Amino acid sequence: MTAGRFAGKVALVTGGSSGIGQRVAELLAAEGARVAVVASSSLAKAEAVAAAIGEAGGEAKGFVTDVREATACERLVADVERAFGGIDLLVNAAGVFYGTPVAATAPTDAAQLLDINIAGPWNVASAVVPSMRRRGGGRIVNLSSVAGVVGVKGMALYCASKAAVAMMTRVMGAELAAEGIAVNAVAPGNTATPMNAAVRADTAMVDAMRAMTPSPDVFSDVSDMAGIILFLLSEAARPVYGATWLADEGFAAAVG
Ligand SMILES: NC(=O)c1ccc[n+]([C@@H]2O[C@H](COP(=O)([O-])OP(=O)(O)OC[C@H]3O[C@@H](n4cnc5c(N)ncnc54)[C@H](O)[C@@H]3O)[C@@H](O)[C@H]2O)c1
Repeated sequence: MTAGRFAGKVALVTGGSSGIGQRVAELLAAEGARVAVVASSSLAKAEAVAAAIGEAGGEAKGFVTDVREATACERLVADVERAFGGIDLLVNAAGVFYGTPVAATAPTDAAQLLDINIAGPWNVASAVVPSMRRRGGGRIVNLSSVAGVVGVKGMALYCASKAAVAMMTRVMGAELAAEGIAVNAVAPGNTATPMNAAVRADTAMVDAMRAMTPSPDVFSDVSDMAGIILFLLSEAARPVYGATWLADEGFAAAVG
């Protein structure tokens, strides 16, 4: 498949075997990109997504990398370059979401959340940027969250991690703009993915969220988020650097 906005581009998508990242991988391939689908530990999962993309006429390959490991991220980039050539587009969709109540969270859980959600996108971007430099530019989209804008009780570290992603995006956007590398982020609100399956099954919780959400859609769809991410990866977003775009069904506008 060569037609489309991303024809000739090579894309690396972390968190590519589920949720928002998977939809991004599918839509990028449908618009002509060759896509490295990166899962955390299950090569079978990444390969299954890549195979489905292939059956739909796109080009993709599965990889595994724990984004907490900087050297593993460097190996991943070398492997993707061997498979596809240099990397033009990066989507950092890997992340975790769980409660971290103050004074009631195991130190290992706290450290793990920060490691995956903050060090993760940093490690992957640090490994990918030299490849983008060799290509003469590129575009990166990170995943922040509405929870990086408004506070959620019991979620201090998740909220802090997503605010950190927005600030990392801002500084990297400024730092790399002169080299033709655009770094931006999307801050989704509640989006139906495996990450929040338990929340969506809790009707009392969903009712409470509905009362706080201006839009009739309490949960956005992964295709909504992927569409915005693809826009930020496209030439149409050329002047956008260091921005974090809220896509939250109006949640922060009403609450914040
Ligand atoms: N779903 C939402 O409501 C929502 C809202 C705001 C922000 N986000 C953010 O969007 C991103 C995608 O989330 P999603 O909803 O698609 O969830 P998801 O659970 O479907 O996807 C997250 C992916 O990250 C991967 N991952 C976790 N730890 C990893 C590690 N150490 N190394 C590599 N990969 C790892 C998981 O394997 C999974 O594939 C996350 O950063 C999340 O915080 C999601």
